[in-house]
Amino acid sequence: MAKKVLTFGSLNMDLTIECERLPQGGETVQGSDLLCNAGGKGGNQAVAAAKSGVQTEMIACVGQDIFGMQMIEALEKYGVGCKEVRITDKAQTGIAMITRYDGDNRIILSAGANHIITPEDVGLVLHKTGSAGDIFVTQFECRKDTTFAALCEAHNMGMYTIFNPAPAKEIPPEVFRYIDLLVLNQSECEFLTGIFPGDEAACRRALDAIQTLGTKSVIITLGAAGSICRTEKKEEFRTLARKVNVVDTTAAGDTFIGALAAELCEGRNLEESIKYATKASALTIMKYGAQQSIPYRNEIEEFFKEE
Ligand code: RIB
Repeated sequence: MAKKVLTFGSLNMDLTIECERLPQGGETVQGSDLLCNAGGKGGNQAVAAAKSGVQTEMIACVGQDIFGMQMIEALEKYGVGCKEVRITDKAQTGIAMITRYDGDNRIILSAGANHIITPEDVGLVLHKTGSAGDIFVTQFECRKDTTFAALCEAHNMGMYTIFNPAPAKEIPPEVFRYIDLLVLNQSECEFLTGIFPGDEAACRRALDAIQTLGTKSVIITLGAAGSICRTEKKEEFRTLARKVNVVDTTAAGDTFIGALAAELCEGRNLEESIKYATKASALTIMKYGAQQSIPYRNEIEEFFKEE
């Protein structure tokens, strides 16, 4: 049976506004260029994998509202399987209020239906949908207990587990050994290890700290400086970021993870997969929005065809 990418995670409708200055408490500032588009770290990562051409299934929950229907429509349009996306009348679809300011974004989340799925629910769905050898991807926008249960179950079923601890929260020490690959950015790294990976030596100390807890391989993404990876066999490699015209950084990290999962699913090694994922996320930041800005495989190959 062909391998697939299985994503458990959040689906949010992203409401994003550009502004020239952030408001102080009690103040209103003028914004512009409202975008209302499908996002959520889970959905974005699934879309990135599907647009790279591998079978991708989503485990998630939306509310019984207009945004929920739009989220499912978007995922299906991009090729993500939605058989395991539940619709609930007990909560509204997740919402992300995003302010685009000075080339970066600030996000406030309302989890809503993303917090409906329980550890028991996710276990049942994993057994129904997943198989040994599949790539399992999750993040931190759903319930913590469900996320940890999913990592543990997927790992025990023989899937390759990728965890993106975003937004940063505590991870109990016993969970690290169920993570085959941890992908985190600099601030998440500082939160989890107390070490800001600002130079080579600090990166190594952070990688040591995470691997000592039992996680096999680790990638720290370093923004404009690219990423550093250390594998289970202690091989290390740096990948430089691509220089492109930055329009909106939303979903750049998610694209990296989804594209990486797709490449691993196709049997590529970590180093090759990271090179492809780096190119994919470079294209994402050249466009506005989340899922709509994520490139298809042919767009990535076309853009970088001179290499
Ligand atoms: O990583 C970007 C995503 O984070 C956005 O799409 C938003 O929904 C938030 O969850």
